[in-house]
Amino acid sequence: MAGIPQPAFYLFMCQVERPEGFPKGSCIKPHNRDIFQYLSEALMRSGVIGTVVPVQSGCQNRCNMGPVMMVEPGHTMYVGLTKEKIDKIIKEHIIGGSVVEEFVIPKEMWADAISPEQMRKMAGVS
Ligand code: FES
Repeated sequence: MAGIPQPAFYLFMCQVERPEGFPKGSCIKPHNRDIFQYLSEALMRSGVIGTVVPVQSGCQNRCNMGPVMMVEPGHTMYVGLTKEKIDKIIKEHIIGGSVVEEFVIPKEMWADAISPEQMRKMAGVS
C-alpha cells in the first residue's frame, strides 16, 4: 500500500511584526502583512499546494534581513523577500529544483550551526 504521501517541501516564513522603532527589526511591516497570504495563493496558482506546505514561523534571528523564509528540505534561507521573489523561488527552486542563489542569505550571515549539545555547554546546562 502506497499510503498518504508526505510533503515534498515545507516553507517556513517568519511572521513576526514588531512596533516601528523597536531595536530589533522584524520581517513583517505594515506594507508586507499580506506576504504569507501571497505565498499560499502563489502555491495554489502553481498547482503545488498539498505537496508544498507553507508554515507561519516565529523569529528566525535574521530580523533585519526580512522577510525571511526557510525551505526544507535543503535548509535554504531566503531573505529580503518580495512577491516577485516568491514567484521566482516557486518556479525555479520548488518546481525547477534549482536554488535561487541571488536571494539566499549571504554566507557571513549563515555560519555553521551550533549543535544542541554544544549550545547546552555554552548555556552552562549539564
Ligand atoms: S523577525 Fe523575522 S527573523 Fe526575526
